[in-house]
Amino acid sequence: MSKEAKLELDGKSYTLPTVTGSEGEKAVDVSALRATTNYITLDDGYGNTGSCTSKITFIDGDEGILRYRGIPIEELAEKSNFIETAYLIIYGDLPNHAQIKRFSDLLTDNQFLHEDMKFHFQGFPSGAHPMAILSAMINAASCYDEDLMRWQWGKTKQFDVYVARLISQVRTIAAYSYRKSKGLPLIYPKQNYKYTANFLHMMFSNPYEDFEIKPEVVKALDLIFLLHADHEQNCSTSTVRMVASSQANLFASCAAGVCALWGPLHGGANQSVIEMLQQIHREGDDGSKFITAAKDKNSGRKLMGFGHRVYKNYDPRAKIIKVACDEVLSKLHITDPLLDIAKRLEESALNDSYFVERKLYPNVDFYSGIIMRAIGIPVEMFTVMFAIGRMPGWIANYKEIMDEPKSRIYRPRQVYTGKTINHYVPIHDRK
Ligand code: CMC
Repeated sequence: MSKEAKLELDGKSYTLPTVTGSEGEKAVDVSALRATTNYITLDDGYGNTGSCTSKITFIDGDEGILRYRGIPIEELAEKSNFIETAYLIIYGDLPNHAQIKRFSDLLTDNQFLHEDMKFHFQGFPSGAHPMAILSAMINAASCYDEDLMRWQWGKTKQFDVYVARLISQVRTIAAYSYRKSKGLPLIYPKQNYKYTANFLHMMFSNPYEDFEIKPEVVKALDLIFLLHADHEQNCSTSTVRMVASSQANLFASCAAGVCALWGPLHGGANQSVIEMLQQIHREGDDGSKFITAAKDKNSGRKLMGFGHRVYKNYDPRAKIIKVACDEVLSKLHITDPLLDIAKRLEESALNDSYFVERKLYPNVDFYSGIIMRAIGIPVEMFTVMFAIGRMPGWIANYKEIMDEPKSRIYRPRQVYTGKTINHYVPIHDRK
């Protein structure tokens, strides 16, 4: 039975419809509120606002549940791989043999960048942050396709090709931006390598010798991509949807997602976690000084890799990554003092009333950096790894609003708190 919400405003009573999701999530539909009452809702930071309905990803933050298209993240982490999971997220179901073959072929056919794009890479200063290059180059890649430039919302026959091109090329661009920042020659992708192995090849091979592709390294990085593949309406995905709602093309929308992801409160946290652990190590702190500072709002510090807007329980991705972290370090015979510091920090925080009361647990970024360090990914590339992983989620969200016949441009309102009517004063009369 559908319920209604009652609202009393200025002595009048209004009824508002409610919406219930397939997992029982409840929402009051306020979309007609302004037209009937002249009020809007105010929710700074959108903490309590559903911006859309979506069929892609389900999160229960209180229970620590994450599912892509209904499939628990734990099952996908154990049994699937990044490319199969990408297909699931974008197209809604696990692919059969023919579907995954076509998808893989499309990825391979679209992995080369237009040769002229190399000149763009040359234009960046050495030491440019790879996230800046990534965003700029994804946008630039769209200029090399006339059809994409004539993008017609919802009528683009080539959509599957663009999906494959974006997923494939984000990896090529990412590797090139690293090579460029180090002044190294660019390495082309290989036809016979799978997605993640090919990325490692483009990052670390040299023109004379192929990089040794270790299966445990491929497995660990592929898992990181898979665990980042979608996370419902986070800051970058909402940005992609916002840009997409203006009917901008797929590449332009996802380039905007990269910019939103870059910040240290979002995807940039994985870089900040390692920098925090390095600082603690350098200062010989056992972690307690840092925890004290993180609890002090005036210190400007936070325990990076802890806390989440949605999870008020252990982030299920962090659980999987923590196990994978121990596994890969032991297989590669690496001991990393930063892992010991991270474990000590986690233990102290989980027993500290500040973190317990606020339900602050490790998030996906807390241990992922330690894996990436162990497999040789440079710290400035960590957020780029997040962006490669998140691409299927951005594309699926883009597709979801493009497929919705009643899609409208995203345009929130505000409550204006500035000056009331004010008049222009010529400069010589101003105080
Ligand atoms: N260290 C210390 N205090 C914290 C932290 C932290 N990492 N996170 C939240 N708090 C405090 C916050 O100051 C507030 O305290 P009070 O109630 O006394 O004012 C309380 O906990 C509630 O936090 P909030 O500010 O309402 O949380 P939010 O939902 O606005 O922000 C967050 C979520 C992830 C931005 C935040 O927890 C944070 O900055 N964490 C560190 C950065 C980080 O790890 N980001 C990666 C997120 S997961 C990957 C992704 O999806 O992007």
